[in-house]
Amino acid sequence: MQAVQDPIVPDYVHGLQRITDFAEIEEVMKSPEFQIDGADERFIFLDDTLLMSDGQRHSEQKRLFAPLMSRQALAYYELKLVEPVVRQSIAEHVAKKDAQGVVRLDLVPLIHAALTRISARVTGVDGVDTEERTNRFRKLVLVISAATTASFSRAADPKGMIQQGRDAMQSMIDEFLSASLLRRRALVAQHRAGEIGLEDLPRDMLTTMCLADDLARDDDGEKIPYVWRQCALFLTASIKTTSHALPHVFMHIDEWMRAHPEDQGKQLDPEWLHQAAAESFRLHQSAPVRFRRAVKDLTLSTGRQVARGERLAIHTPIANLSDAVFGPDARYFNPNRTVPDGLKPWGMTFGMGTHACLGQNLVTGMQNKGDEKHGTHGTAVCMLKALYEMGATLDPDHPARRPEGNLHDVWETVPILLHTA
Ligand code: HEM
Repeated sequence: MQAVQDPIVPDYVHGLQRITDFAEIEEVMKSPEFQIDGADERFIFLDDTLLMSDGQRHSEQKRLFAPLMSRQALAYYELKLVEPVVRQSIAEHVAKKDAQGVVRLDLVPLIHAALTRISARVTGVDGVDTEERTNRFRKLVLVISAATTASFSRAADPKGMIQQGRDAMQSMIDEFLSASLLRRRALVAQHRAGEIGLEDLPRDMLTTMCLADDLARDDDGEKIPYVWRQCALFLTASIKTTSHALPHVFMHIDEWMRAHPEDQGKQLDPEWLHQAAAESFRLHQSAPVRFRRAVKDLTLSTGRQVARGERLAIHTPIANLSDAVFGPDARYFNPNRTVPDGLKPWGMTFGMGTHACLGQNLVTGMQNKGDEKHGTHGTAVCMLKALYEMGATLDPDHPARRPEGNLHDVWETVPILLHTA
């Protein structure tokens, strides 16, 4: 079994105070004396969105968007959206099986395509349905995602990446977003006129913004308009993160089964998959570091002094590998791990405090998944289960590979076989 290493961080991070201790990070993430911060490109694409706002603006947005991830909404998404999309995305590949009936495919674009469709619907983007339209939309999201994290790239020209992101944003507005917003505004107008009920409206972020009449900001003329920034947040926050996370789970399960043949077959058990996914989420976070800025001079309980306006580098991926918190084998995948009371099995992977991930339950499912009526498995287990039910294994002839020019802890390609598709 391979030990997980500390992630590599961009050079400029070395000039900041860096926090790696679990408890100290928790103190910062939960403290109202720190605000969300990030590299400049984050503000170009995401300024004043749920992620990049604080204080009252953040609380208002949190209240506005919370119903999108209510128990009832998640049950609805899982049944009406996640399961059909997973089936459709796999079916498109199954059509390409070889003479022996084996399907060869790459897990990375497969997961990415499924997540693109799911996230488009949760965001409120229409027409991300056929393989061709999904690929086009996926490509635009990838360019925007890359632009929002340009300083984490080893690319020679981060400014060029940001410009490409702006161009992709404009294409996405023209090809997908404007029409989607127009349709929702018309539906909300019909609802207000008493012609259709609330339950007939789409259940998504854009509709929520239309219902709240919260679509614009004063500086929209100078920046990417607010409503599109919020779309960029929801799309990049959901697609890239989940698509980065799931190939890791698959790789760890493969490694585990080779070391523990007695567990073969457990990958068909959703309960076991939940544990395996959570453990893998703990070990890998797509962002190597997060940032927070102090709103005033202060001293943390550890004695660390932080000046007003100072930017801290918060190393949640390193904290998640802490022996003191997760045990002496913390750097190794162990689906049977138990974590101390009060901690999540994935540690800090979905954040902590006021900016904790809005979409976590969509990915991990709701706690009481035994509840027949509203229990959910989440996108991770739904996807993995569907793949294992088709006998998914790594392709022994084509090893998985990591990308070269990128500091993110990701797999670039994970070729797999589906034996019983
Ligand atoms: C494996 C998948 C995911 C991981 C690991 C993840 C991780 C995170 C983390 C760490 C944060 C906090 C960032 C910070 O404090 O600096 C966050 C925030 C956020 N996530 Fe996720 N996320 C995932 C999936 C999703 C999905 C599916 C959505 C769908 C809507 C989503 C929407 C958001 C939003 C809107 C925020 C901002 C919340 C706020 O600032 O109040 N995420 N996520």
